[in-house]
Amino acid sequence: MAILELVLYPDPTLKEPCSTVTVVNDEIRALLSDMAETMYAEEGIGLAAPQIGSDHRVIVVDVEQRRKSDNHSQELSSLLKLINPEIVSSSGKIKSEEGCLSIPGVRETIERHETVVVRALDERGDSIEISADGLLAICLQHEIDHLDGILFIDHLTRLRRNLIKQKLKQLTDDYQQIR
Ligand code: NI
Repeated sequence: MAILELVLYPDPTLKEPCSTVTVVNDEIRALLSDMAETMYAEEGIGLAAPQIGSDHRVIVVDVEQRRKSDNHSQELSSLLKLINPEIVSSSGKIKSEEGCLSIPGVRETIERHETVVVRALDERGDSIEISADGLLAICLQHEIDHLDGILFIDHLTRLRRNLIKQKLKQLTDDYQQIR
């Protein structure tokens, strides 16, 4: 397993839609393990493939965030590794504060569906369905958005985005400086 380098805003990779995974093989399983490792190392609760520069439709989520990177057992049931996840139904509205490992230092209140049902393939290539509410539902929506090139700040009103423009400009300047 390896800790992968994070892709940071405003890298254009984050705006690219991902490709459907056609074969669940060892390469995909290794990618998911590395993504989980990276998520725990960064103390995140979710990570999507574009955030580590991959264009496969895969995400990892663990809203319990109990495991740290020095514990190499990935057996905790709270860890979800999802391939080709899609929201098949949703209901309700909920507002909560979100952040993103790719947009450091920015936290904003976003409205999401309160409950979602997500269909995906697991690591064995079996079809699974997850009914989620609360933080897990929010996290699943945030990560699945990433696979379509959508960032949480894209959900902000223009007014709100103007208010945090300075923060985003700073991230953009930092990005340009390291390139
Ligand atoms: Ni994110």
